Amino acid sequence: MKHADVPVNTYRPKTPFTGTVKENYSLLKEGAIGRVNHITFDLSGGDPFLNYVEGQSIGIMADGEDANGKPHKLRLYSIASTRHGDNFEGNTVSLCVRQLQYEKDGQTINGVCSTYLCDIKPGDKVKITGPVGKEMLLPEDEDANIVMLATGTGIAPMRAYLRRMFEPSEREKNNWNFKGKAWLFMGAPKSANLLYEEDLQRYLANYPDNFKYTKAISREQQNAKGGRMYIQDRVTESANELFNMIEDEKTHIYLCGLKGMEPGIDEAMTKAAQEKGLNWAELRPQLRKAGRWHVETY
Ligand code: FAD
Ligand code: A2P
Repeated sequence: MKHADVPVNTYRPKTPFTGTVKENYSLLKEGAIGRVNHITFDLSGGDPFLNYVEGQSIGIMADGEDANGKPHKLRLYSIASTRHGDNFEGNTVSLCVRQLQYEKDGQTINGVCSTYLCDIKPGDKVKITGPVGKEMLLPEDEDANIVMLATGTGIAPMRAYLRRMFEPSEREKNNWNFKGKAWLFMGAPKSANLLYEEDLQRYLANYPDNFKYTKAISREQQNAKGGRMYIQDRVTESANELFNMIEDEKTHIYLCGLKGMEPGIDEAMTKAAQEKGLNWAELRPQLRKAGRWHVETY
């Protein structure tokens, strides 16, 4: 699909689409920190239909009202499914949602929309807006190389990309015969927090020449300085190989997840570039201009 034809704002907050929850299950293993769910909505019956492509987001409007008695504002969530959906029937959309929880004045505060989403049950009706976003679209080129830097739920768009590249039924549907290299750097606090791990291992086994998967498990692994292992430390370790890829103009880089990782990634890229005699401060805007540097952090 051409960039200009990618659908946006088919549904807006004043007239949202009402989807139906199909599935809602935990993505975490025993011993994981927090709550992260995979949630699928049935989009059947939409008129117009809520079409989307990989790399876009949708808005969710939680039931209920805010402190001012107004309906809750929408929150954006990256779409974790391909346009064909997890069932390949083209009538669903899936999300990967972490419940926001923090302590304030000795009390646990639960995020409004993320808690609503983690708690909803199959059959529940949910107000959906969008789709939005053209920042994280995949190139059409089957020979492209895709470097993915994700923390936590930042895996969501990457999961859609990787399904598009390596999931057998999805490949049959999409006729996109990906032949490039995909390299995922994934940051999670514990092994039990790794998301979609079984799928990723299957892709590794089936496509060893096309898929590389590097993990940074912050609370189980240490970086060279003895601190928590973050994806930027893995970027530093892989500097040479990574920049060999970046020098190829078919390589795109996607960054998604915690906003807080951006300075660390920048620092790691600066160091990595220096080792190759390159200047990241000059290179990054060039990559951005060429549509090869894609960032969606929150
Ligand atoms: P709210 O009730 O809105 O609470 C959030 C507010 O709480 C913050 O604005 C801040 O004021 C306060 N707060 C937060 N943390 C603290 C703290 N530690 N101490 C004090 N105050 C604090 N989320 C996902 O889980 N998965 C995704 O795929 C995803 N994709 C996104 C894509 C985009 C483009 C964007 C912009 C955001 C995305 N998000 C995603 C984040 C999501 O939109 C919500 O922001 C998130 O779920 C929290 O919303 P909430 O309603 O639960 O929290
Ligand atoms: P940690 O929380 O151990 O400091 P999740 O969303 O599941 O919590 O995962 C986010 C991952 O990103 C965690 O491993 C977290 O580490 C890590 N992380 C936190 N801050 C940063 C940062 N500034 N740069 C890179 N990774 C970070």
